[in-house]
Amino acid sequence: MKPVEINDLPTSVWLDINTGVFEPCVEISRRKVSDLAMMFADQEAVQQLIAQGDPVVYDIRYHPFQTSTSDMALGVSTIYPGKVGDEYHMTKGHFHVRMDQPEIYFCVRGTGFLLMESKEGDFQVAEWRPGTITHIPPQYAHRVVNTGPEPLIWVASYHLAAGHDYEPIIARGFAKIVVEKDGQPVFLPNPRRPNSS
Ligand code: F6R
Ligand code: ZN
Repeated sequence: MKPVEINDLPTSVWLDINTGVFEPCVEISRRKVSDLAMMFADQEAVQQLIAQGDPVVYDIRYHPFQTSTSDMALGVSTIYPGKVGDEYHMTKGHFHVRMDQPEIYFCVRGTGFLLMESKEGDFQVAEWRPGTITHIPPQYAHRVVNTGPEPLIWVASYHLAAGHDYEPIIARGFAKIVVEKDGQPVFLPNPRRPNSS
């Protein structure tokens, strides 16, 4: 990762809400099925997709607004439509390392769901369409699921110092998975948590 530059002057970036591309953007991370392999319930489908070319699930573009006294960041993520088995494309999901750090997500294109779950197990869902803005309180893990036919694009605003903790999600996932049944998204108990309902 490039070192973050300090800039105390006002700064603007420009976002194309149809593609999720914005300028200037200092980094793009691409996550493929293989990067998320353990997150999906259908491991046979995971291996098949990897063998067929390992499709891209989502892209993350990012810009730090770092001044000498503050550390805001902007992330724009694009989940491409698709499924792994019956399970819709989704982000890995994470907690913030700093447990006092919230985040705002602003959906600009597409449809889907934001799943949120606290360490105590409170599970919440926000249904998304273009224009939906969700405040994610501190101490809630967050994952986005694209259940629509087009790219799902949203803007994330957070502090650089928040940090990302993926380990609890890698270990247990979220309380529910989102799968297609008869052409509709449905929420099912996470099979990796035998005692959840
Ligand atoms: C930052 C944030 C987003 C995500 C991005 C990808 O705190 O929540 O910018 O990092 O949407 O999701 P993950 O990081 O779960 O792969
Ligand atoms: Zn976050």
